[in-house]
Amino acid sequence: MGDENMSGKPIYIGLLGLGTVGRGVFRLLQANKSLIERKVGGPVDIKKILVRDLAKNRGLQVEPGLLTNDPEAVLNDPEIDIIVELIGGTGLAADYVLKALSRGKSVVTANKDMMAEYGKKLFAEAEAHNCGLFFEASVAGGIPIIKVLKQSLAGNRILQIMGIVNGTTNYMLTRMSKEGIDFATALRAAQEQGYAEADPTNDIEGYDAARKIAILASIAFNTRVSFQDVYVEGISNIAAEDITYARELGYTIKLLGIAKDTSQGIEVRVHPALLPVTHPLAAVNDAFNAVFVQGDAVGETMFYGRGAGEMPTASAVMADIMDAARNFRHHVPGMIGCTCYETRSIKSMAQVVNKNYLRLKVVDKPGVLAQIAQVFGDNNVSLATVIQKETVNKKAELVLVTHDVVEQSLRSALASLELLPVVEKICNVIRVEGEGNS
Ligand code: NAP
Ligand code: HSE
Repeated sequence: MGDENMSGKPIYIGLLGLGTVGRGVFRLLQANKSLIERKVGGPVDIKKILVRDLAKNRGLQVEPGLLTNDPEAVLNDPEIDIIVELIGGTGLAADYVLKALSRGKSVVTANKDMMAEYGKKLFAEAEAHNCGLFFEASVAGGIPIIKVLKQSLAGNRILQIMGIVNGTTNYMLTRMSKEGIDFATALRAAQEQGYAEADPTNDIEGYDAARKIAILASIAFNTRVSFQDVYVEGISNIAAEDITYARELGYTIKLLGIAKDTSQGIEVRVHPALLPVTHPLAAVNDAFNAVFVQGDAVGETMFYGRGAGEMPTASAVMADIMDAARNFRHHVPGMIGCTCYETRSIKSMAQVVNKNYLRLKVVDKPGVLAQIAQVFGDNNVSLATVIQKETVNKKAELVLVTHDVVEQSLRSALASLELLPVVEKICNVIRVEGEGNS
């Protein structure tokens, strides 16, 4: 590229937020400025940064005058072309993004909560003003999965997505699996490592993963899928015994975000699942994320990397900034806007078909297994495996694996089992995924 292409007005960025991700974006632009500018075809500079606390020590050399705590100083600066929203939260962030778009600025964000709640409104505003709205970092941090779905696999009908999209829970399940520690110890370890927040609800109850899979399902199936559409179960009920027994059966337990295109509608769910140890996602450990995508043309693909953290997330944000900057230089709106051109129904969870693992505590005496088998049979649930584990004080632990069963039938069987005097407790029920079931 000749130097004449590097001239012209710089593309000016307004950063909203200079926390973990904002700092990463600032550092990455400093470190790779010449590479970034050569690829964009002109200078790229940060013109203003919105923060709350002007006096905070950020461990960065920020030019005097760059920081402000007045949002209008950034959003209303006519020279700023791209607003990068990294303050987090929903209402205020959406308000700032709407203002930026209405003023003709393109927006880059890492904010899954805002995209999951206000995506429709934000896309409409972006389209009305011919601006770009980029959100690669909002799902799976450094893994470029949104661009893959929107561009690289655009010619495919996407059949299914299965993702480990929450690093905190994957770290916890990995520690539980490798060290046999219990849930509470694993949570403390995740908090000590800085993965889990003081209030870990969003991660461990699956809400963070649900917001991410809602975004991915919307893109994959060209229909709006919201957080409320996602069936969610977290990992707080997973015990060390479940992990041990799953391993003995040839499985590992992962928190999965699942989106499937079926003839009865779209399945979209987040829950722990037993995955065969041979499945590519089973090897994704610690705080890593991975997204497994099956398209009708490409077949099976998998994308792996760090789902959070300063520099991995900044990597995704910077790629979006560069897309927006290139579009700006070429005077094209240049976004692949909202692709939700269809309205698809969401399949009821009661209709979902899965194999299931069950752990029961039962009375240890003759005839108990027969009674339990009868309940399953009466409800059209076929059993593949029944194993009796520990027996303590005349109470036995039973581990059962069903064949594929409609969830509704399994729920009826569980309701009847709860009424059986010989069943002391249904300790856990975990779906089995990744064996080619529908
Ligand atoms: P963070 O460390 O808490 O930083 C937030 C920044 O925004 C801070 O600089 C803060 O200013 C500023 N801010 C917050 N509210 C503000 C307000 N009302 N007015 C002005 N400034 C305000 O957050 P983060 O971890 O960087 O996350 C940013 C976004 O990226 C979130 O949407 C998050 O979900 C997403 N994300 C984060 C990660 C990650 O690994 N951290 C990964 C993927 C996506 P002060 O510094 O002055 O307090
Ligand atoms: N809390 C998330 C995780 C990272 O543990 O993966 C931000 O989305």
